[in-house]
Amino acid sequence: MKRKYAVLGWPVQHSLSPAMQQAAFDACGIEAVYEAWPVAPEKLGEGIEKLKADGYEGWNVTVPHKHGITDYLSEIDPPAAVAGSVNTVINHDGYLKGYSTDGYGLEKAAEEAFGRKPQDGAVGFIGAGGAANAAALHLAVQGTPRIVILNRTVAKAQHLAEAIRKLEPSCEVVYGGFEDDAFISSVLADCSLVVQATSLGLKEDDPAPVSPELVPHDADVYEMIYKRTAFLEKCRARGCRTTDGAGMLLHQGAGSFRLWTGLEPPVEQMRAALQAAVQKRQTS
Ligand code: ATR
Repeated sequence: MKRKYAVLGWPVQHSLSPAMQQAAFDACGIEAVYEAWPVAPEKLGEGIEKLKADGYEGWNVTVPHKHGITDYLSEIDPPAAVAGSVNTVINHDGYLKGYSTDGYGLEKAAEEAFGRKPQDGAVGFIGAGGAANAAALHLAVQGTPRIVILNRTVAKAQHLAEAIRKLEPSCEVVYGGFEDDAFISSVLADCSLVVQATSLGLKEDDPAPVSPELVPHDADVYEMIYKRTAFLEKCRARGCRTTDGAGMLLHQGAGSFRLWTGLEPPVEQMRAALQAAVQKRQTS
């Protein structure tokens, strides 16, 4: 019988995960299906019961369920528990364990794009939502010496800063808001990586979250959004090395595949499937 996996989201039909994960199972010769499951937020509990009853061995969780899913799990990997964000579930005969591979995805994507480990220097996060939480906590656990969190809502930046201090006391953490340009440029000054983790840039006419002028010329800039935003282009014009969120999508998926199968993920086949799915979407 085929092994069964899925991605839960609402909406989810736009998800590129089925193409990428199916390619991974096929490349490894595993008889499996990976499906997109649309699950409305108020139906999440029912959806999970159905996945369990139908014998799904694992699933990904995407917007808007990354936090909501935590109520239904038997166990959560510590950084994901602290972040309150889960994107991967393993079903061990009804015992559900949750993980987040989003931080691993950022780590690998930044390493691939910039040729160095992101945790070897200070990292600045612009944004303190679910994605920033997962990534910052992961990079803290991986040994990042200093993390800067800047967010429009300062209380959320503070909350994340406190979570990092609790999980990884050796990591120095600074946080603040978007108002004071002098403060922002001083705290970002020694960051070798700056991560744009707000949702600003999804729409064409979105403003930049902070002025690109405040990002150091020699910083690498990672845009979590899956396209080259105006913020990213302006940072590139300043001399920064830049990359968009495509690599993070690939590597978080590779991380999920490794958790489910215990196998080394076939990253190049997954990358090719992802690129083909993006092209198909653009031409359809
Ligand atoms: P994700 O899972 O993508 O991280 P999220 O948890 O909804 O999504 O977080 C969205 C992030 O974008 C937050 O940092 C949010 O800032 P607030 O915490 O202040 O809401 C940020 N964001 C969204 N819209 C914004 C805006 N108009 N200006 C500044 N920041 C914004």
